[in-house]
Amino acid sequence: MPTYDLPAFIETVRREKPKEIVQIRREVSPQHETLAILTKFEQSYRSPLLFFERIRGCEYPLANNVCGSTARLALGLGCSVGELSECYARRCACPCKPVLQRDGATQEVVATGATADLTQLPQLIYHEGDAPQPYLTAAIIVARDPQSGKLNLSYHRLMVTGRNTTSIFMARGKHLDGIWRKYEKAAKPMPIAAFIGVHPTCALGAVYTGPAEVEEYDIIGGLQERPLPVVACVTDASLHVPADAEFVLEGYVSPAERTAEGPFGEFTGYATGVSSAPVFHIRAVTHKKKPIFQDIASGHLEHQILPVLAMEQHLSLMATAAVPGCLKIKVNVPLTVVAVVDKSNESQPRQLMDVLIDSDVYVKQVIVVDPDVDPSDLRQVCAAIVLHAQPHRDIVVYEQRQGTELDPSAGPNGVTSKIGIDATKKTSASRRVVKNAVPRSVLDRINIAEFLNSSSH
Ligand SMILES: Cc1cc2nc3c(=O)[nH]c(=O)nc-3n(C[C@H](O)[C@H](O)[C@H](O)COP(=O)(O)O)c2cc1C
Repeated sequence: MPTYDLPAFIETVRREKPKEIVQIRREVSPQHETLAILTKFEQSYRSPLLFFERIRGCEYPLANNVCGSTARLALGLGCSVGELSECYARRCACPCKPVLQRDGATQEVVATGATADLTQLPQLIYHEGDAPQPYLTAAIIVARDPQSGKLNLSYHRLMVTGRNTTSIFMARGKHLDGIWRKYEKAAKPMPIAAFIGVHPTCALGAVYTGPAEVEEYDIIGGLQERPLPVVACVTDASLHVPADAEFVLEGYVSPAERTAEGPFGEFTGYATGVSSAPVFHIRAVTHKKKPIFQDIASGHLEHQILPVLAMEQHLSLMATAAVPGCLKIKVNVPLTVVAVVDKSNESQPRQLMDVLIDSDVYVKQVIVVDPDVDPSDLRQVCAAIVLHAQPHRDIVVYEQRQGTELDPSAGPNGVTSKIGIDATKKTSASRRVVKNAVPRSVLDRINIAEFLNSSSH
């Protein structure tokens, strides 16, 4: 049975994809320097997993960009890059309940009360202009819905405000925000745990975007094709965390307290300003004997790649239920969804837009294209828009919708207008709309290797 924890995955990358990992031995500052190193790699079109052996002021090694390439996501799932979407969707459709264990490596070291000290973790500062307080960006929060009893998982940025306090950013309209509002209304603290340092299957399960009744631990079990071992938190047995997480912070979000949070450079590539956020009080920090701290560089490739499979899977289910001819959903650019449809009537592109536009707060723009457009190729998508859409007829503006407060152009609370573009060819068009193509039979008999080796041919 394979081990599904962060160190095991790092070893797999070292063994099977050595070009996908870079070991950094010298001491590195947590203030901007880890991000600067990753930025330099990205600028040279590389996105390796970075393993920092020594972070100034901290005794733990740090891994970042763990899920920063589709090749590594595929390695985590044990499939090829080409099979990723299909594999993710197929395994999500076979959820598997976690198994509650007595002990787990994540509780080898337990610090409670005054010894639970966040300043022992890397004090990471990312962008110029970010708040001076360090952030934890790879924390997966587990909380229990007080009404349904279901456990929810999602990533939430935590700004360290003291030895045992952080702020927590909960985006409007998402599940944790809904759970939090119930506790807040009842004026009760919301018990939560934040776990940091996991295998990519765990990360991909945490970003699962389905109905609230589906528990992400079951999805992780589906992705790993076995029950995920979990343990009860030491300060609150009703919360469960993966037995092999590197670190866990246990505590509660207080109902009345707020703190100033931000600015913070987000996945859009822009910073959010300062806002008022709830406060997470940490009652215990548990970890492995030799833990690896995990970091996700906000606004960089990993942050953008990680949620995409889950979003595409969720939106595909909604889209095909409404329009069976919808063949593919692609999310390449923040807040933008491209839907490929083999339409059987002229109303289907609009139907798709109407369904997708309010499907998620992170959808602001829906573009519908024909099957001869590759939705991953933005050049082809832009060409389809300009060549097949008549703006007065094929562009729909949806006003006053719930978007995300991370969109720099959105109004208060993330309220925004949204846009749908029907970039499919119109059968009513009087002029020729046949795409240029060389006959398939001729294309198939050409082998360019034949022309490359000899200029005499
Ligand atoms: C690296 C990373 C950081 C994230 N940070 C936040 C955050 O700070 N707040 C938030 O509400 N969502 C954040 N998200 C998005 C949620 O994890 C995501 O929307 C999740 O699917 C929501 O889960 P739900 O479907 O249970 O609501 C982040 C996602 C990633 C991948």
